[in-house]
Amino acid sequence: MSLLSYNPASRWLQISVVAVVVTILIFNTAYYSHQRNLTPPIVEAAINQVPAPELQKPELNIAEILQALYTPLKVPIDAQYFTDPEGRIFDNTLRPIWTESLGKKLCIVDIDTRALDGSEQVMGPNLLDWNHVDYSGAGMMNHYVYSLIHGYSYHFIRTTPLEDRSAYWTKIEALSNTLEEHKCHMTISIDADATFMNLNLPFEWLLNRWNVTKSTSLTMAVDPNEPQNLDAAHGGINLNCGFVIAQNLPRTKEILDAWHHCPDLNATRYPGCARWKKTWPAEQAAFGEYIRYDFDGPEDIHSIPCDEANGFPGSGSACSGSLVRHHWSNKGLVRGMMSDAVMYGTIKRVHRNFREGIDDILIVDSGEDGYGMLPEQIEEVDGEEKTTEPEVEKEKEVVEESTEESQQEESKEESKEEGKDEPVHDEPKEEPVHDEPIEAPVHHEPEEEPAVEEQKEEEEAADKLEIKQLEIVKLAEPEEKEEPKEEVKKAKEPTLFPPEPWKKA
Ligand SMILES: *[C@@H]1O[C@H](CO)[C@@H](O)[C@H](O)[C@H]1NC(C)=O
Ligand SMILES: *[C@@H]1O[C@H](CO)[C@@H](O)[C@H](O)[C@H]1NC(C)=O
Repeated sequence: MSLLSYNPASRWLQISVVAVVVTILIFNTAYYSHQRNLTPPIVEAAINQVPAPELQKPELNIAEILQALYTPLKVPIDAQYFTDPEGRIFDNTLRPIWTESLGKKLCIVDIDTRALDGSEQVMGPNLLDWNHVDYSGAGMMNHYVYSLIHGYSYHFIRTTPLEDRSAYWTKIEALSNTLEEHKCHMTISIDADATFMNLNLPFEWLLNRWNVTKSTSLTMAVDPNEPQNLDAAHGGINLNCGFVIAQNLPRTKEILDAWHHCPDLNATRYPGCARWKKTWPAEQAAFGEYIRYDFDGPEDIHSIPCDEANGFPGSGSACSGSLVRHHWSNKGLVRGMMSDAVMYGTIKRVHRNFREGIDDILIVDSGEDGYGMLPEQIEEVDGEEKTTEPEVEKEKEVVEESTEESQQEESKEESKEEGKDEPVHDEPKEEPVHDEPIEAPVHHEPEEEPAVEEQKEEEEAADKLEIKQLEIVKLAEPEEKEEPKEEVKKAKEPTLFPPEPWKKA
């Protein structure tokens, strides 16, 4: 029977039961293996270094566990506000376009030509070792976990490299095929170096925030306003293809088809498009220069502010990827981001249990007699001690001194921190990158990319340029929560959406 059909209280009970059962299983296994072998200590030490055994078949599958864990943490699809772990408040005051979960009709896909079968990759020989997982494994597991939590479909689509063009180009047809063959109502194509920041935030909530209506064909995030991201023909800022929302509509198929064939229509419909077959930014350039200007209807292509669905903190651009993060470089940070996302939710559930069980958990040990006393009894004893014993004063002084010291240290640290514009929870850009070299500014799959050296130079040049700040969404202040809906709506709407210069007015 599904875990979700229970009310929250009994679900919680179930989870506790499962946790206990799992713990008992683990201890039993350990106990009996010792009994059977009667292993001498030296051999026992060696056994401890033997690789962990295969996972046992669990009572509940991870999808059920994740859903049970996250259901109480989920943000309602029509919630007006969402506060993220960093305290940023995102409002959603547009009329809710999407009110129900799309469930399996929403497909999240990783599209890649790479086999990804290395020892620490998703298709490799072993179960992933989180300490050594590569960025693509961390990213893809983020997409998969997010899908499991919300009951979306997930697919890893391995495409076949094309002879005459770079690997990026395979993504378009594969995306189009998901709308046909896999019967997805909506497909989200997300690169392995991009992640969903908030696992408890349903995608339908984001669709509402980004004004993806039921007749919007394609939605993508804007790139940083830097010279290498401007389309050659019109100078408009390109949209990034690392995160594409495609809706199953006849018009979408038309757009994707034209895009896929852009280089083939070099002599007719899209003169010059063939030059993007292999040259970076390849399909992204073709889209930015030709396709979006060809398909310029109001519902053809929507854009998302760069700061919300592109880039990462410390990217040196105005794009911090606050809702969907995209690590064009510093890909080693994807792993930490995924850990944070999981712990953010998990710790709340764990801590809640801790607090609810505090009567059994808390033991206040204030010296010999304190043990076993109820907290209020101890407080009473403490109070008496303070008034009678002179030594307490001395202790207090010592404590005060040490607090001053630590305060000084804190303020030192604070002043160090103050240099930064915003709370950067990832490592700063300057730090050595552990796993991955800094790569092309806006694309993944650098192995496939011929002009890596050139890109690095481009990127360095771009870093030196002064970056024009895009119009960034003004997020609601906490106190604005209290304001009447209409006022909030008026204040936010004009600033949420970036300019879409390719659209006819
Ligand atoms: C593509 O079109 C451009 C301009 O229309 C032309 O100069 C170029 O030779 C064409 N390339 C190919 C491969 O046909
Ligand atoms: C949302 O999209 C629709 C359709 O493109 C458009 O008419 C409307 O103005 C958009 N709303 C905002 C707030 O941009």
